[in-house]
Amino acid sequence: MQRGLFITFEGADGCGKTTQIKLLDEYLRARGKSTLLTREPGAKGLGVKLREILLNYEGPVSPNCESFLFLADRAQHIDCIIKPALEEGKIVLCDRHTDSTVAYQGYGRGLDIKQINMLNNIAVNGIKPDLTIVFDIDIQTSLARVGNEKDRMESAGIDFFNRVRNGYLEIAEKEPERVKIINASDTIDNIHKKVVELVEKL
Ligand code: TYD
Repeated sequence: MQRGLFITFEGADGCGKTTQIKLLDEYLRARGKSTLLTREPGAKGLGVKLREILLNYEGPVSPNCESFLFLADRAQHIDCIIKPALEEGKIVLCDRHTDSTVAYQGYGRGLDIKQINMLNNIAVNGIKPDLTIVFDIDIQTSLARVGNEKDRMESAGIDFFNRVRNGYLEIAEKEPERVKIINASDTIDNIHKKVVELVEKL
């Protein structure tokens, strides 16, 4: 089977990864590569409806329910969008993926990490990122970037986001081959150069 590359971008809200994923997409396209730029939650179709609930539902949401909704979105995304693109040989750039559930629902909400890993494994159906880039930044700075218009997840508070950040750092420590950390308080240009360096190595 022909197989493209699967690269995921991770980090706390406001870390700047969405700017960086777009810059990398432009960089690769300018070099004639065929890419798919996508995101979780809510790439398209059913995912968009799940995203709407996850980010905007105003009533109480249990942490387990939240996890299952992110995982449902992921299962659909992998089977209907990511896997076919990889089979076509594309470079898939995904804004958030499995590590977001470990960091946010595991470290952030306090759910069992082993169980989340197990559920992630079911959702991804054998597909694993070739490279994951974590954009690390102190939480005061990233939340200031998010501003006052916060969605349901972004309203979780500073302690929650410190646990999320710490979660990402632990994930990177456990899987140093796949997960690379970039200091996201640097300039957009410098960060882009570091991203390109990591991707060129692949
Ligand atoms: P989004 O607007 O895409 O945020 P960002 O631009 O920071 O990626 O919102 C996604 C939110 O959902 C974000 O707060 C992280 C959260 N999330 C989880 O809690 N668990 C997950 O598994 C995923 C994919 C996202």
